[in-house]
Amino acid sequence: MGWTKSARRKLSLPIITAIICTLFAFIFLISTIGSISRFKPCSKRNSADGRALESDWKDNPVDDKNDFDPDECCVNHGKWVFNSSIKPLYTDRTCPYIDKQYSCIKNGRNDSYYLHWEWQPDDCMLPRFNPEMALSKLRGKRLMFVGDSLQRNQWESFICLVESVIPKGKKSMKRGHVHSVFKAKEYDATIEFYWAPFLVESNTDMPIKSDPKERIIKVDSISQRAKHWLGVDILVFNTYVWWMSGLKTKALWGEFENGEGGYEELDTTVSYRVALRTWANWIDSTIDPSKTRVFFTTMSPSHQKNKEWGNINGIRCFNETRPVMKKGHWGTGSNKEMMNVVASVMGRMKVPVTVLNVTQLSEYRIDAHTSIYGELQGKLLTDEQRADPLHFADCIHWCLPGVPDTWNQLLFSYL
Ligand SMILES: *[C@@H]1O[C@H](CO)[C@@H](O)[C@H](O)[C@H]1NC(C)=O
Ligand SMILES: *[C@@H]1O[C@H](CO)[C@@H](O)[C@H](O)[C@H]1NC(C)=O
Ligand SMILES: *[C@@H]1O[C@H](CO)[C@@H](O)[C@H](O)[C@H]1NC(C)=O
Ligand SMILES: *[C@@H]1O[C@H](CO)[C@@H](O)[C@H](O)[C@H]1NC(C)=O
Repeated sequence: MGWTKSARRKLSLPIITAIICTLFAFIFLISTIGSISRFKPCSKRNSADGRALESDWKDNPVDDKNDFDPDECCVNHGKWVFNSSIKPLYTDRTCPYIDKQYSCIKNGRNDSYYLHWEWQPDDCMLPRFNPEMALSKLRGKRLMFVGDSLQRNQWESFICLVESVIPKGKKSMKRGHVHSVFKAKEYDATIEFYWAPFLVESNTDMPIKSDPKERIIKVDSISQRAKHWLGVDILVFNTYVWWMSGLKTKALWGEFENGEGGYEELDTTVSYRVALRTWANWIDSTIDPSKTRVFFTTMSPSHQKNKEWGNINGIRCFNETRPVMKKGHWGTGSNKEMMNVVASVMGRMKVPVTVLNVTQLSEYRIDAHTSIYGELQGKLLTDEQRADPLHFADCIHWCLPGVPDTWNQLLFSYL
């Protein structure tokens, strides 16, 4: 527990300091108790608190790190701490598997502040990502990320985090339009990506329909693609941003004589709920939780409205070089109703799903999007486009290395 640690450190100082610190610690404790009740997903922390508190006074605090238990720590409540001696485990030059869409430095980004922030939960230490340990946990296993381009962002990050410790010739990559497989041969392990932007099927999965009005989502259809997820040991899903076109969604279910014409226009949260329940039902009816672990990455926030973080003269996420420091910052890029749908669907599943709740920690990182160093429809931005960030900055995807490395640090802590 953070407060006991800081309090203990200061106990050796003169008594007056000690008294002041105790007072502060007391105030802090009161405010912590207040916040615990506000954050349901971390309710386990409640019961753990008393126990950890007592043993913390006696035991060596260094042990905390090894005892890390993500279920007893709110990993998604914390702050970003700048530390220039932190170096990412890879760069977009050393890791050959990063799409140019995420290769910000290669594409010309020349500020590097964004690379040296570390996520520190309030009341525990998140273990650093250890490539050897991650690979040994994947030994003989298949890990598959299923979802949209943000999930591909996370998949490439995971591969880059581990690939440098695998010698040449002992790894391979096979890219496909829908399914891509990275192999670590000596570990008999694969790290895979499966493209499914709505999880359920749609008429715009591949090829993509660029006009959102033409997109029709088959909210009750999943089995044709889900059969490719069978036999995977660790499944990590996401779906969010494709739902957020701002329009009602055209949802189709059942069979209609007029085919795709049988769609119904629904509010986004309604169709999202139906689709997630289709997914949940597939998981519950198909997955054996003793063989397969299921994760769900929550929405990745986009940062389109600079006024929301108080940069009146900014242009969306363009030219941002520092995270937002205001605790609890939350913008309109993360829709709370959609989040509630996720929580309610997951909460009623038979198979346990571990939620990688990356939304709050990513909300702070206005500085880490690809911005003008990304691409548009498969092509790097031209100089003219870069000069027009209002229309062309990508404030959805993330530079690699970057924020998705922290998502994988969370995933790693659960493996
Ligand atoms: C910064 O990172 C280094 C290397 O990981 C670590 O030893 C040091 O304690 C960190 N500094 C702070 C202030 O957290
Ligand atoms: C970084 O790039 C911007 C344009 O993208 C340029 O204006 C600036 O001078 C560059 N800074 C350095 C230190 O190279
Ligand atoms: C980016 O922001 C810096 C201040 O942080 C400012 O000096 C610079 O002019 C801005 N660059 C552009 C292209 O707006
Ligand atoms: C994720 O965390 C936020 C707070 O940061 C919370 O509001 C939300 O309900 C959580 N989502 C899920 C699915 O647990």
